[in-house]
Amino acid sequence: MDKKYTTLGEFIIQKQQDFDYSTGELSRLMNAIKLAAKRISNKVNKAGLVDVTGAYGSQNVQGEDQQKLDVLADEIFIQTLIDRDILCGIASEENDDYIAICDGNGSHNNKYVLLMDPLDGSSNIDVNVSVGTIFSIYRRVSAEGTPVTKEDFLQKGKLQVAAGYVIYGSSTMLVYTTGNGVNGFTLDPAIGTFYLSHPNMKITEGGAIYSINEGNYNQLEENVQKYIEYCRSDEDKKPYTARYIGSLVADVHRNILKGGIYMYPGTTKNPNGKLRLLYECNPLAFVIEQAGGKATDGKNNILDIEPTALHQRVPFYAGSKNMVDKLHEMLVL
Ligand code: AHG
Ligand code: MN
Ligand code: MN
Ligand code: MN
Repeated sequence: MDKKYTTLGEFIIQKQQDFDYSTGELSRLMNAIKLAAKRISNKVNKAGLVDVTGAYGSQNVQGEDQQKLDVLADEIFIQTLIDRDILCGIASEENDDYIAICDGNGSHNNKYVLLMDPLDGSSNIDVNVSVGTIFSIYRRVSAEGTPVTKEDFLQKGKLQVAAGYVIYGSSTMLVYTTGNGVNGFTLDPAIGTFYLSHPNMKITEGGAIYSINEGNYNQLEENVQKYIEYCRSDEDKKPYTARYIGSLVADVHRNILKGGIYMYPGTTKNPNGKLRLLYECNPLAFVIEQAGGKATDGKNNILDIEPTALHQRVPFYAGSKNMVDKLHEMLVL
């Protein structure tokens, strides 16, 4: 069959041989994620017609007002993965604590844990703007056969086995890495199949887009303000173009395809910024690094940070290598 017709299902099977330890479990897990993505895509595409828009009426552990689709996407993802009997634990932005999962035999023999942001950019659901899902997969560190522990989830990003995101945009795409480059698949909604549309995605070394919520400008540290002024200045083929959707997945996806830097710094109100290390920053940093870019908290590589709490937040700067390097140079001044 012609290469352009490779489906995600076929691709997952082809790539299974990349892992010498492969037992097919990661392939089964990726297939379960594929199914969950299609189910959420179906709901997102009907927003406005069925009752999935608006507030759910409660707050999550982060103190955010949950949207109906936050809760629905969380339930769909968790149920789809539990039904496939492939994980020993799940942690989600929407839940206070992690969930330990028994396998079909009532035991705890599965070896992977998954962390996720089931619906990213939920403030954009009601206004028909792109939203996403982000996922991160680790091998457990506790003994197989025992219930998972917090340590299975609090692992450094560099230990991720696979990570990726789904973007529900003008089309639905699933983009992921297992540490051998990044590949993107576009959903043909008529037949419900993802096709390999963006093989071996690479972010350019330089870029001309900067993405930040500039409404926070007065709350940013002086060196970050200086970098924004640098982006706006006329010298050296600038000013850069400002693009900020307010859905992290969509902002990062655009910058991977076009070249750019995404920034969510600490503010005076929230010194660690807003984004969650385990559900948002680690998986996207893994994808960005695998595409040839960089991701830092302003000091350290995101993937080297030792997590201390499930819902930990960190400042996040990610994108084209030269742009992140320039920002770093200015942050240490
Ligand atoms: P989530 O919807 O999963 O809670 O994430 C929201 C995040 C992210 O998607 C986005 O980039 C950022 O919040 C936007 O925050 P601001 O509105 O503060 O710019
Ligand atoms: Mn949220
Ligand atoms: Mn998010
Ligand atoms: Mn979310």
